Amino acid sequence: TPVDTPKALALGFTAVAKNRNDLVTVPAGYQVSVLHALGDPLHWGDASWADNGSESADSYNRRIGDGHDGMHYFGLSEAGAYQADRSDRGLLCVNHEYVVGPYALHPNGRTIVDNVRTVPAEVEKEIYAHGVSICEVRRGAAGTAMSLVRGSRYNRRVTSATEMDIAGPARGSALMATKFSPTGVKARGTNNNCANGYTPWGTYLTCEENYLNVLARAANDDALRTPKEIVALARYGLPQNRRSPYLWDTAGSDDLFARWSSSVTGASASADYRNVFNTFGWVVEIDPFNPDATPVKRTALGRFNHEGAWPAPAVAGQPIVIYMGDDSRGEYIYKFVSKAPWDAKDVGGGVAAGAKYLDEGTLYVARFNADGSGQWLELTHGKNGLTAANATYAFADQADVVTHARLAADVLGATKMDRPEWGGVNPLNGEAYMTLTNNSNRVAATATPSGSQVKVDAANPRAYTDTYANADGSTRNSAGNVNGHIIRWREAGTGNAAASFAWDVYLFGAQSDAAADVNLSGLTAVNDFSSPDGLHFDERGLLWIQTDDGAYTDVTNCMMLAAVPGRVGDGGSATAAGGAVTRKGANATEQTVRRFLVGPVECEITGIALTPDHKTLFFNVQHPGEDGTLAAPTSHWPDRQTNAASTRRPRSATVVVTRTDGGEIGI
Ligand code: FEO
Ligand code: CA
Ligand code: CA
Ligand code: CA
Repeated sequence: TPVDTPKALALGFTAVAKNRNDLVTVPAGYQVSVLHALGDPLHWGDASWADNGSESADSYNRRIGDGHDGMHYFGLSEAGAYQADRSDRGLLCVNHEYVVGPYALHPNGRTIVDNVRTVPAEVEKEIYAHGVSICEVRRGAAGTAMSLVRGSRYNRRVTSATEMDIAGPARGSALMATKFSPTGVKARGTNNNCANGYTPWGTYLTCEENYLNVLARAANDDALRTPKEIVALARYGLPQNRRSPYLWDTAGSDDLFARWSSSVTGASASADYRNVFNTFGWVVEIDPFNPDATPVKRTALGRFNHEGAWPAPAVAGQPIVIYMGDDSRGEYIYKFVSKAPWDAKDVGGGVAAGAKYLDEGTLYVARFNADGSGQWLELTHGKNGLTAANATYAFADQADVVTHARLAADVLGATKMDRPEWGGVNPLNGEAYMTLTNNSNRVAATATPSGSQVKVDAANPRAYTDTYANADGSTRNSAGNVNGHIIRWREAGTGNAAASFAWDVYLFGAQSDAAADVNLSGLTAVNDFSSPDGLHFDERGLLWIQTDDGAYTDVTNCMMLAAVPGRVGDGGSATAAGGAVTRKGANATEQTVRRFLVGPVECEITGIALTPDHKTLFFNVQHPGEDGTLAAPTSHWPDRQTNAASTRRPRSATVVVTRTDGGEIGI
């Protein structure tokens, strides 16, 4: 039976005001330090960041990557094992989602001539600057702040060139057969690792989201594909004759570059990279405690633009349950339920335990009904029309279903959501939350949709236009679900493995001065926000919300808020701008939702981890100053945090937050 949030859980800091300073601003009584930033060396022997892009490509196999995003802290015992309750020493796994385009990594930004990357070493550097970093962190002799242990044997990079195993239903499938692995059991690299997950046995899950950034497809490639392949490629956003934004495939015929073409790039069959595309879009499991362990792509969890993979608390004898979102406009929310019941003896079992829990199980996709109920629809070959006889798309086997999970979810009539980002499960009552960051393709009930536009519905109820100021004083309009919302659901019965649920919308993003049918949660100056993205429940039941905003940045930089949420059904119903009736949570108050920090200029606040004693909090600043150039920089953070006169390049970084009195954070 779910329990209510204890009354004792109360926010205990003064709200930070919205601002556009080139600084991280935290409440009185709190302090910050930078743990690591782009280019910092993990080992001895590589020079410190030189602030001029001179670091070698190869050195990024041993340096912190770019675009810090999802992360997790694992306590590390003296014997080198996972120690879940240890707070003064641990391993911090951080995703490096992407290379922030304009300037930080290279001497003078990217060198591109007529859509060709003419400096292969720049592309090689970008390949190694993506992926994941694992580093040991320790508290100093006095205090709760942490720093990186340079030279630790655990310090490691996983990049877009690292060899991976393929496991689960798609292992050995013809869909995964590549020149590199003709039997379809291995792949190279992980890409665009956005958010993350973690397992109760002590491994890190990293999730492949915007891999279309690096994958191209040649003109006339359709002639080499079956009609079914062409349908699948279109559904996953890769038409023929498509350049990738990063143009990695253009840097030369070397295999390190040509593999990103997703095409047959030469006359010989040895240059056939067609199925490389199918090797991205997965959840990847990494054992941070074993630097020699090969990362594993866990295909039972489906293939889509994986934002993250959030586990419900593990219960002995019950299956492992993981919630996942596909972050694209109008995509779906998924759930994986393991076949094996949880056995705490598997703690420390590494990727072998991962094989037990993550390679066999059931994948579901969510349908949200207007009456506040919902169903998990099973994505299993042979069920629900997912068969070779299906007229829309013939599913050959479970490898086909998981590799083309979006097509299977289409067949089942899942609910198209407003860009599912991060999720989390309230440890106090098992209710699951997920941010829906915004959706410019959502249109009013009375509109005539065009292209891929979708009308409002009860679970994605808002479509409206808002006007924002540009830096030069001009204005622009944004339309659709401009400010996003956070949906939540309570599973039927006990545990999180049920087939049905009840839902409402916990919180709607909005400016505090917006109209009542837009500011449906009654946000005020202490808690108004836009475009929720990162979300995390800590073990006390405190909810952390982070923003990646494109709309509200004329008023404030992105932020992180703390909340004491209620329960599904604690609000009422409302009619939202756009005409849909929705189920909403209770209005926000300063006691229940409060702004905890504001980040530097043009950044996104993303990624969150706390030590088990809640005295150290890590968060990431991604892409500070992203709209600037070398000639006209808009940010000098993180150097600016301690040097007001800094002229150094902005870098993505992990920030450590502590209380000056060493106490618990947030309460
Ligand atoms: Fe990488 Fe969906 O944010
Ligand atoms: Ca995100
Ligand atoms: Ca985002
Ligand atoms: Ca962003």
